[in-house]
Amino acid sequence: ESSEQSQLIGLYDQAAELYTHVLLNTEMGQEALTYLHGRGLTDDIITKFQLGFAPGDQLLKEFFAEKKIDYQLLRQSGLFIEDQEGQLRDRFRGRVMYAIKNPQGHVIAFSGRILNKADSQAKYINSPETRIFSKSNVLYNFDVARSAIRHEKRAILFEGFMDVIAAYQSGVTNGIASMGTSFTNEQIYLLQRTTSQLDICYDGDDPGQAAINRALDAFGANSQLKLSVIEIPDKLDPDEYVRQHGAKQFNEIVHSARLTPTAFKLTYLKRNYNLNNEADQLAYIEQALKEVATIDSSVEQDLYLNQLAKEFGVQPQDLSKQLRQVRSQTS
Ligand code: CTP
Ligand code: MN
Ligand code: MN
Ligand code: MN
Ligand code: MN
Repeated sequence: ESSEQSQLIGLYDQAAELYTHVLLNTEMGQEALTYLHGRGLTDDIITKFQLGFAPGDQLLKEFFAEKKIDYQLLRQSGLFIEDQEGQLRDRFRGRVMYAIKNPQGHVIAFSGRILNKADSQAKYINSPETRIFSKSNVLYNFDVARSAIRHEKRAILFEGFMDVIAAYQSGVTNGIASMGTSFTNEQIYLLQRTTSQLDICYDGDDPGQAAINRALDAFGANSQLKLSVIEIPDKLDPDEYVRQHGAKQFNEIVHSARLTPTAFKLTYLKRNYNLNNEADQLAYIEQALKEVATIDSSVEQDLYLNQLAKEFGVQPQDLSKQLRQVRSQTS
């Protein structure tokens, strides 16, 4: 770790402490604190996750000016936006701040959420890439979750920071998230050193379901991780589910409602067909068999062939025959 890197980490650490202090102890943070309390967070959780508030002025700039921090270091930090005259302004203003940490637990970036949804600005803005932060390498909460991941022998991948936090509050402490991007190979490598099982628990809405489908395709190809899918009902995201149904029901879903990748994919595929007519039934069966053909285990293949046979009242042997044709076409 270069001294520039440790200096940057030092800045982020101080900024995080300032933002948390503003949120918890000042008038400026009052509205944001009320907002977070309204979303079910306690002061303990806010402190634990180092949530904060960046007020609508130049607080951070003034804070570092008093400490006589080097201008070049501030420029490189990504905490500021530079105007044409080289003047720095706070990048995050009027936002709830999520501290993003490296696996050692040091703050290396922020994501800032607008308070008011009606606002026309982007819901989240993130720190830019720096010497200490690469968005596609980050696993949010990995520093905290690692020991629980080892203990549970599995990690749960959520879409959002608030989902990770809500899960944590419900006692599900092995949750991580990427930062609004698809899961990358770097993140897979980081995770594979700690576990071989990943449960994907994205939002129940259409974009979330589509993201699961994409993730399964991406992982299937290039990872040794064993995957499953935890589906959140009623198009809710995990945080909303916890608030509406409580910790106990959330735990039940997490621990018992795991789908295999194939089971998820078949359900996902099915939404495109009207299974009341035979043309759609046949088209679905054909696509489903393509999916089943990608499975390595023949026992697992048989399982789905038998399910499909039952579902559509056809002979498993006929499906096997068609499966062999599908295989020879795709190989
Ligand atoms: N995201 C982003 N930029 C956006 C929207 C989303 O970077 N404009 C990322 C964030 O990391 C966010 C995740 O994608 O946590 C999931 O997005 P979404 O489901 O819309 O947000 P939530 O996590 O549900 O946030 P909240 O509950 O606070 O609305
Ligand atoms: Mn610290
Ligand atoms: Mn979402
Ligand atoms: Mn969400
Ligand atoms: Mn949400």
